[in-house]
Amino acid sequence: MRELVHTVGRRFARVATRAVVAQPGLWRVFRGPLRAQFNWMASGWEYRRGPEALVSLEAALDREERLPARVLDLGTGTGKAARVIARRFPTAEIVGVDLSAAMVEEAARLLPNDLRGRVSFRVGDASALPFEDGFFDLVVLLNMIPFFSELGRVAAPGGTVLIASSSGPQTPIYVSPATLRSRLAPFGFDRFDEVCAGEGTAFIARRAKG
Ligand SMILES: C[S@@+](CC[C@H](N)C(=O)[O-])C[C@H]1O[C@@H](n2cnc3c(N)ncnc32)[C@H](O)[C@@H]1O
Repeated sequence: MRELVHTVGRRFARVATRAVVAQPGLWRVFRGPLRAQFNWMASGWEYRRGPEALVSLEAALDREERLPARVLDLGTGTGKAARVIARRFPTAEIVGVDLSAAMVEEAARLLPNDLRGRVSFRVGDASALPFEDGFFDLVVLLNMIPFFSELGRVAAPGGTVLIASSSGPQTPIYVSPATLRSRLAPFGFDRFDEVCAGEGTAFIARRAKG
């Protein structure tokens, strides 16, 4: 039964991603059901996939040109990407945001003590973020629907947006590089890079310093 719900959930996430990327206003239709879905999945989420889910994210982080001071992990889930980023950039402050309160609870529970001063998690919606303009040097999305206008708003001049998919185009929440490029360019992102590693892919968008 649990696996059936996961299969239906993956299909629903794919439909929601396509719809919301094409028409962001449709998010109000999908927000409630997706939140319920991920609340339900939160307890087992951390262990559904192993380290292979992080390979494309790690490969893309290898290409980060600067040490970011402030990093946002959007759709953090149980905080896997936030923890990887914290280990990689030992002076950075990282905020993980997720729509699902149950995911945020799990992320906080799984956070090792030595990261507690620099990594925090909060419930929030990537379509309307509670952060100032240009606050983050690096914004990371791992298997998460991009909301382009908010990415453009909260990324700093000279900052980076990194969008990784653990299973490339097979990932339920996946957006093609061509779409990412065309939707981010109007916000001043002008250098783009694509990464394939393991089963996954990642897209990197860098913004001019302004
Ligand atoms: C497929 S999971 C990925 C979780 C994590 N990044 C990972 O790869 O393990 C997508 C996550 O994004 C969250 N999410 C979906 N839409 C969101 C939104 N608009 N704002 C914040 N979080 C959102 C979900 O609650 C879920 O935890």
